[in-house]
Amino acid sequence: MESRLSSRADLIMDSCIMRLIAVAKQPGMISFATGLPDNSLFDTEGLRAAADQVLTGEDAKGSLQYGEAEGLPSLRDRIAKRCRREAGVNATKECVLLTNGSQECFDLLGKMFLDRGDPMVVENPGYLGALQAYSAYGPRMIGVDLSDSGPDMMQLETALKEDPKLFYSIPNHQNPSGMSYSESARQEISELLAGTRTVIVEDDAYGELGYRRRAGKAISSMTDNSVMTGSFSKIISPGMRIGWMVVPDWLLPKATQFLEAFCLQAGSFTQRVMDRFLADNDLDTYLGPIRAEYLRKKELFSDLMEDMLPESFSWNDPDGGMFIWLRTPEGTDAGRLVDSALEKKVVLMPGKPFHVRGGDNTVRLNFATASDEDMKEGMRRLSRAASDAF
Ligand SMILES: Cc1ncc(COP(=O)(O)O)c(C=O)c1O
Repeated sequence: MESRLSSRADLIMDSCIMRLIAVAKQPGMISFATGLPDNSLFDTEGLRAAADQVLTGEDAKGSLQYGEAEGLPSLRDRIAKRCRREAGVNATKECVLLTNGSQECFDLLGKMFLDRGDPMVVENPGYLGALQAYSAYGPRMIGVDLSDSGPDMMQLETALKEDPKLFYSIPNHQNPSGMSYSESARQEISELLAGTRTVIVEDDAYGELGYRRRAGKAISSMTDNSVMTGSFSKIISPGMRIGWMVVPDWLLPKATQFLEAFCLQAGSFTQRVMDRFLADNDLDTYLGPIRAEYLRKKELFSDLMEDMLPESFSWNDPDGGMFIWLRTPEGTDAGRLVDSALEKKVVLMPGKPFHVRGGDNTVRLNFATASDEDMKEGMRRLSRAASDAF
């Protein structure tokens, strides 16, 4: 039949994320591929207790009813306080909008800001899921390379001259590279943005997962032209689908309208459960063991890499988040490693799809999801795959 789909259907990028999750679930597979948090860290008891209280409390029936478009006020208030305290962002309850995961924010921002051909700046490499969401609106993506301390400032300065509508960035423990922006990079970016019309979208999905401390003050604390996005997915539960965006006053009425048109409101029952959970559990106390466990896993994973992977491979040492960024030798195709690993039942995420240019010799490794045993066995297989492929 003749296609009557919108032009967006042609524009939207493919993203292998959900396909990889399905492959990783096949029997005998070990996955270093996806962005899933460690199942064993989910607090089923704490969340059950919170859900019980919600469903037996005075407003039990109300918890199953529609709620406010913007989201549960008490949860928005908690998020605003946390953003003020931890990230230095001047957030109030009124400017926090709750969404079904922070992924939804990228689509909403695309809808609100992007017409086909509009320039927008993205990190190179950048988070594939967000790039996919924006791609449906047909922006012209200008990639700015990342170094170990932030975006290439010369490239960013040049890109800003094109008057981009948005600059999508992940300053803390980036997906995919695991790197964080330095304090001076954050400052410099806020200075470069001053006097432009570009809105920075500051994705803070991993901001709470600094192993020893938060990686830095939010850029959103230094400029009004920003939307900060956040999520409980990586620290409490991705399945509850609770994300948010902190929007400036000038954008609030439109953002609320778009949110309402998109989904009426994000799931209010899970918001109530999360709110109860956070009332009963001090977030810093709760996060302590989670951060410690990810640090332990990262160290175990890095040690295994050190022992088993060829010397010609290189990788970084992130201080938060879930990812290590692996490079095969310059000029080689890391896809060979990905294919060879898959034959040995290890799933890897190639780095190339995160790039608007280059990245052929990169692979994203997730050390957070696998158990210690799987990590060791997976690395043995990966070592054999590396010998076969290189
Ligand atoms: C950098 C980044 N931002 C946003 C998301 C979306 O997460 P969620 O929609 O679960 O909040 C992810 C998920 O992997 C991510 O890695």
